[in-house]
Amino acid sequence: MQGGDSSTESRNFHIRRLEISDKSKGFIELLQQLSVCDSVSDEEFKERFQELSSLGDDHVICVIEDMSSGKIVATGSVFIEKKFLRNCGKVGHIEDIVVDSNARGLQIGKKVVVFLTDHARAMGCYKVILDCSTDNRAFYEKCGFKQKEVQMVQYLI
Ligand SMILES: CC(C)(COP(=O)(O)OP(=O)(O)OC[C@H]1O[C@@H](n2cnc3c(N)ncnc32)[C@H](O)[C@@H]1OP(=O)(O)O)[C@@H](O)C(=O)NCCC(=O)NCCS
Repeated sequence: MQGGDSSTESRNFHIRRLEISDKSKGFIELLQQLSVCDSVSDEEFKERFQELSSLGDDHVICVIEDMSSGKIVATGSVFIEKKFLRNCGKVGHIEDIVVDSNARGLQIGKKVVVFLTDHARAMGCYKVILDCSTDNRAFYEKCGFKQKEVQMVQYLI
């Protein structure tokens, strides 16, 4: 893994984009550690995977696989918003960052955020943004983010 320290390398973590076979490697169970994620059938997974894949580099889901267990232990996503503002600029939106509870504190959450930020940079984004709880503010600060403005939400269901 690029830029890995000794603790991550000794557990042999591999960072890459999501693959369709990751459903059987605990990807959905990992998301369930973040928020509500009811069981997803193989057919539903395949359909959503193909839908997202068709967006190419505009929507990337990153995963980290623990090669010793074959399990997905971390994930996060970024999608690229295309604007008219800022000379038709682009913004990266980071979402759904989660590290398996047994693998936290090993710098792999940071690796996921750096992977996604690097992707947004490579896509020409002038900034990358995300929402988080106050509990996670310090984590994102360690990843190079700073607090700005206020999140607003209206739930539609
Ligand atoms: C938040 C989360 C992704 C962090 O992942 P992680 O792999 O444990 O974090 P890392 O080991 O990469 O931490 C990187 C740095 O941030 C620090 N850090 C991590 N979580 C922190 C927290 N909650 N508060 C303060 N600092 C934190 C680490 O100490 C480390 O600091 P260092 O570089 O000085 O050693 C993980 O705890 C998690 O999945 N939480 C539950 C889901 C969640 O809340 N996701 C975020 C949604 S916005």
